[in-house]
Amino acid sequence: MRASGCILFISLLILSWFSFSLALSDAEASLIAHRQLLSLQEKDNLPNQYEFEVDVQVKFANPRLKHAYVGLQAWKKAMYSDPLNFTSNWEGHDVCSYKGVFCSPALDDPKLNVVSGVDLNHGDIAGYLPVELGLLTDAALFHINSNRFCGIIPKSFEKLKLIHEFDVSNNRFVGQFPNVVLSMPNLKYLDIRYNNFEGDLPPQLFDKALDALFLNDNRFASYIPDNLGKSPASVIVFANNNFKGCIPRSIGNMTNTLNEIVFLSNELSGCLPPEIGLLGNATVIDTQANLFAGILPTTLTGLEKVEHLDVAYNKFTGLVSDSICRLPSLVNFTFGQNYFTGEEKGCQPGSRKGVALDDTSNCLRGRPKQKSQKECVPVVSKPVDCSKDKCSRPSRESPNQLSTLHLQYLFFHHHHL
Ligand SMILES: *[C@@H]1O[C@H](CO)[C@@H](O)[C@H](O)[C@H]1NC(C)=O
Ligand SMILES: *[C@@H]1O[C@H](CO)[C@@H](O)[C@H](O)[C@H]1NC(C)=O
Ligand SMILES: *[C@@H]1O[C@H](CO)[C@@H](O)[C@H](O)[C@H]1NC(C)=O
Ligand SMILES: *[C@@H]1O[C@H](CO)[C@@H](O)[C@H](O)[C@H]1NC(C)=O
Repeated sequence: MRASGCILFISLLILSWFSFSLALSDAEASLIAHRQLLSLQEKDNLPNQYEFEVDVQVKFANPRLKHAYVGLQAWKKAMYSDPLNFTSNWEGHDVCSYKGVFCSPALDDPKLNVVSGVDLNHGDIAGYLPVELGLLTDAALFHINSNRFCGIIPKSFEKLKLIHEFDVSNNRFVGQFPNVVLSMPNLKYLDIRYNNFEGDLPPQLFDKALDALFLNDNRFASYIPDNLGKSPASVIVFANNNFKGCIPRSIGNMTNTLNEIVFLSNELSGCLPPEIGLLGNATVIDTQANLFAGILPTTLTGLEKVEHLDVAYNKFTGLVSDSICRLPSLVNFTFGQNYFTGEEKGCQPGSRKGVALDDTSNCLRGRPKQKSQKECVPVVSKPVDCSKDKCSRPSRESPNQLSTLHLQYLFFHHHHL
């Protein structure tokens, strides 16, 4: 209990710890991105036999360190501001002594010392990622969180086959989801939160053997792919994007692995799928601030480990039952800012010692701080029937498939007219 409470605390902290000291204007960011674009036009990926010139004066302990040197020097050139002097000692052949660069024996040849990781976290560096970073083929760890890197993640990163942890969070990256991470076979930890990524998520993301996936605070605006439940990740955070549509019913297949899932602040809608109740090992389930409607599925009683359950700021209706409020591990259940018309005794704030319950701003008769009748009537009088709702009914076609079908239909018509 205590340990997982701590995990909860840490993860909530993680959601809010970034300070926004980024002093890069949008114009500067787009200038840097433009420079990256120019360099990518010259070479958008690294050829397999990348030719490079290295000062003959510089001697390396082995060829892989020479590759790393070329990659790191190209990166240094692509940095326009390094206010904390992270890279001032990035000179000369001894790349293992560069600040933020880590070496260890190569996995496939322990006699060779190679660059196994880069960690420039909190460097506040402005710049872009050059194609030459694809030369860091021994890196297992790439951490550049809280910098001012702009532009895109170059395709050459697909050469980093050993990457285990990829953290580019809290930078100024733009464009579609960086598909290049899908070609990192050993990736376990993917953190791209606090950037300006937009568009869709590739379904293949959920086929990967990730442990943790942080997508929050970007501009993603797609459906959550139907194969969500294939992901073995223990933590998935979708918060603060514009995801829409249903929570895929496959979520029920994450029973044994999912610990924490956060949908906070998106445009997700429909009823909660009853399969959510199968998440018997989850400690955090957060659906706050979406457009969810209907009643809470009775299956939520299966959430035996849940400590933090948040359904606030939605359009839920119906009764909040004791069987949810008395879940054995519950620490905080927030269901305010909805249209609930009833709550059982054990759900009233203060009724359970050590459990924070919040029922404010609903349509609960006799409770303080509720919505007015005028606000309640239009919603409560037309409750959503979850047995007919597209999100909680066995799906025939997902919205994704539907839109593909629709496109095919359009395509067909245009070509036959
Ligand atoms: C970084 O180096 C410059 C020039 O050597 C120096 O003026 C500045 O104070 C240094 N900044 C920090 C944070 O050490
Ligand atoms: C879980 O996976 C199985 C097969 O892998 C599939 O048949 C089933 O429909 C999935 N369950 C959900 C809730 O999607
Ligand atoms: C929790 O996960 C373990 C495996 O890690 C599994 O054996 C168990 O069935 C899960 N518990 C529930 C309630 O689903
Ligand atoms: C319960 O969780 C909500 C957010 O989900 C938070 O705002 C509130 O402060 C928490 N209450 C307690 C007592 O921790």
